Amino acid sequence: MRDLLIAGNWKMNGNSILASELVDEIIKGLDASSSCDLLLCPPFPYLNLVSQGIMNSPISLGAQNLSQHASGAYTGEVSGEMLKDIGCEYVIVGHSERRVLMGETNKIITKKFTTAIKNNLKPILCIGESLKERKQDLTTSVISEQLNAVLNTIDVNDMKNAVIAYEPLWAIGTGLTATPDEAQDVHAHIRAEISKSSKKVAENIQILYGGSVNGNNAGSLFSMPDIDGGLIGGASLTSLEFLSITKATNK
Ligand code: PGA
Repeated sequence: MRDLLIAGNWKMNGNSILASELVDEIIKGLDASSSCDLLLCPPFPYLNLVSQGIMNSPISLGAQNLSQHASGAYTGEVSGEMLKDIGCEYVIVGHSERRVLMGETNKIITKKFTTAIKNNLKPILCIGESLKERKQDLTTSVISEQLNAVLNTIDVNDMKNAVIAYEPLWAIGTGLTATPDEAQDVHAHIRAEISKSSKKVAENIQILYGGSVNGNNAGSLFSMPDIDGGLIGGASLTSLEFLSITKATNK
């Protein structure tokens, strides 16, 4: 049985006051009986602040990005080793905003994935199709291509320490959500693709859904057999909304 993971991706939002308030309010509002894994991914400058705030709580720390390089003359980049050093356990890799806005290719994303693994960080690999691709019936082939770019380069056992996030681009920040059935179909496809390399890894890997998840739609999404939690953007910036999503995890 896979645990559910609820991950907050704050993106480039907030300031130190909001970061402290969010962490305090989330910790105070956590349901002691909840068994889901919890993760916060603040912007780089607030990683330390959030790390202090979540100490002695069940919440883990993650970064939103890492450099594909180990160290050296890469101005403005942050290495996997540095993230591990300041207490990160997870790192988001290949978010569609980075693919589309920063030109990250499958090749770069695969390098980032392997750099994360080398540094004992758990990569959350984001994959998803655009609206145009969905309309052209290309969803499963786009998903397979993005997933296999990584799978075909690594040892499948490295996936044991990874998480996949299915995030249809048309659902991110738009208020449109994939229906539970639409999301389940893609999640089942992702698991089937991974099981071609290892049934065991496929069975155990957490596959999150992301794209306009909120307190109202979380329960029906998380009730699907292959949806193991959510990567939450906008709704993770309000403690009440984020907490209501964590409460929707009792499958
Ligand atoms: P959203 O973002 O919840 O605001 O749609 C999700 C994400 O991009 O991770």
